Amino acid sequence: MNSHAIGIFDSGLGGLTAVRELKKLLPHEHIIYFGDNARVPYGGRSRQTIRRYAEQDIRFLLSHEVKMLVAACGTVSSNPPPKEFLQSLPVAYTNVLMPAVQAACRQTKNGRIGVIATAASIHSGAYERQIHRLHPEMTVIQKACPLFVPLIENGYIQRDNAVTIQVARDYLEPILAEGIDTLILGCTHYPIIKGLLADIVGPAVTLVDSGKECARAVKQYLIENDLLNHSTLPGEQQYFVSDKDQDFGVKAGIFLGEDISSHVQEVAIDHY
Ligand code: DGL
Repeated sequence: MNSHAIGIFDSGLGGLTAVRELKKLLPHEHIIYFGDNARVPYGGRSRQTIRRYAEQDIRFLLSHEVKMLVAACGTVSSNPPPKEFLQSLPVAYTNVLMPAVQAACRQTKNGRIGVIATAASIHSGAYERQIHRLHPEMTVIQKACPLFVPLIENGYIQRDNAVTIQVARDYLEPILAEGIDTLILGCTHYPIIKGLLADIVGPAVTLVDSGKECARAVKQYLIENDLLNHSTLPGEQQYFVSDKDQDFGVKAGIFLGEDISSHVQEVAIDHY
């Protein structure tokens, strides 16, 4: 039993897809969330910069009492900090990559898996490598979708948003033409527009939500390591951002289904 918080980070709103799921699965857990919205998007940056940002995000979360660290960001998961850094962490660290890969491999029937993610995630080859490590016979069709994160961060998230639909069609039609039956949303921002994406891919393609799969993996880890909070009170959430723009709380609130504007605090991430 451990009543410390779960520390989660992402470049912006995306990691909230994991937070939303965690709140459902583990309603008594405290959560500290950091969204690096001053430096979003990470997905167009070099591996070195993504690693440096991720190390700062982790150090910030470790300045609180956390029992576990979660990189709820596909880009960081595909371009992780060096092994020595991760091995030196005082608590367990996990990310969204393997839970999403495992779920996709379980769900596909025809062995043709699509992956959409940021440019940095796709160029790292991490999703494809991990799928082939588990199942060398499977076919992986990848596509970088660099416009999705800015669209989502700017609130173009309604299911009928004409701009986002047009962009999504451009990205998805070539992958659909390859006959995939499973599509990994390899960026945690994408489940925010899951309805819109589902309308385009149709019912024959299963969408794998990396935030959701990651939340399941976190729950499993806490159970197996006796780290659950046994309190019967609702868990508390604290939200931190690196740039307190007015909109973060509002957009996050729409997505989380509750107004969090008054809980959002700013942090000078460069100091970590
Ligand atoms: N949610 C992040 C991810 O999963 C977005 C990356 C970005 O900031 O470009 O990749």
